[in-house]
Amino acid sequence: MSKGKAIVMSGIRPTGFLHLGNYFGAMRNYVKLQEEYTCFFMVADLHALTTHPDTKELKSNVHRVLAENIACGINPDKAALYCQSHVRETSELYLYLNMLAYLGELEKTTTFKDKARLQPDNINAGLLTYPVLQTADIILHRATWVPVGKDQEQHLEMARNFVNRFNHRYGDVFPEPMAYNFGEDLVKVPSLDGTGKMSKSENQLATLYLADTDEMIRKKVMKAKTDSGPTSPNSPKPDYIENIFQLMRLVSSPDTIAQFESAYDECSIRYGDMKKQLAEDMVNFIAPIREKAESIRTNETYLKEIMEKGAEKARESASATMKLVRATMGLEY
Ligand code: TRP
Repeated sequence: MSKGKAIVMSGIRPTGFLHLGNYFGAMRNYVKLQEEYTCFFMVADLHALTTHPDTKELKSNVHRVLAENIACGINPDKAALYCQSHVRETSELYLYLNMLAYLGELEKTTTFKDKARLQPDNINAGLLTYPVLQTADIILHRATWVPVGKDQEQHLEMARNFVNRFNHRYGDVFPEPMAYNFGEDLVKVPSLDGTGKMSKSENQLATLYLADTDEMIRKKVMKAKTDSGPTSPNSPKPDYIENIFQLMRLVSSPDTIAQFESAYDECSIRYGDMKKQLAEDMVNFIAPIREKAESIRTNETYLKEIMEKGAEKARESASATMKLVRATMGLEY
């Protein structure tokens, strides 16, 4: 990693399976970022404990997320790909930052309120200070760019507040982290039931996962909502039909797309054929990623090696920051 490049940091929670929306919304962009920036991509296993205190499946989830990320093109030789709990400096910085975080602002956080509602019997302090831990993840590397979805913008705003409080109270150490916006590159991946986007938690049959078998992909695509077709030439497309075209644009060849576009305009389109074609193109797109992820996931020696290499890079950057933090805070006796 060369000096002077801007620093990018992001975290991925090891809960749920990656789907096509994650791929086109996040992974594909991470892969581009690693070419231009010094990147830290982290599996947020400590954050997972705030909602999933049972650790029985944590190891296999961490392995799966790592494998899926590598299969999508994250290159562990370019980016630092590591596990949050392997960088102990995170916990130290989290502790210092907690003294700069006020109860009032933490209680007001949207994600806290949502999660507290979902788990009324486990409103733990970790859940409350989730944004503080996230801030520690980011500023431990003095990162300026954080590629995240819209749902994380409030956490980033809080991170900027904590950074400013630290810098004012003790001295300038941290740059303000900003959400990295992909603009044009942020493609929407519609769900197969014609409502909203593909997502981890909503209708699983309307979401294509990178771990889905060929049969499962075909089954889901063939179930996508259609109708009896347009009745007059060049009609506008209903949303659920536009969604199928949108999915095609992600994985099918320009010729295939043009062919179905003109069939639609001429009212000769057969949605059964279109979905069959889309299903095959999806299978051809997803199967190699699934197979690659599977072979990485089951190679524990390789995964350990990757995690150790990533953690080493992360710790190197973290320990430099923490030296500066302790000195600036006056904690050197
Ligand atoms: N909170 C993020 C999410 O739910 C995950 C995360 C943890 C993260 N630490 C981070 C994201 C640091 C960006 C930077 O998706």
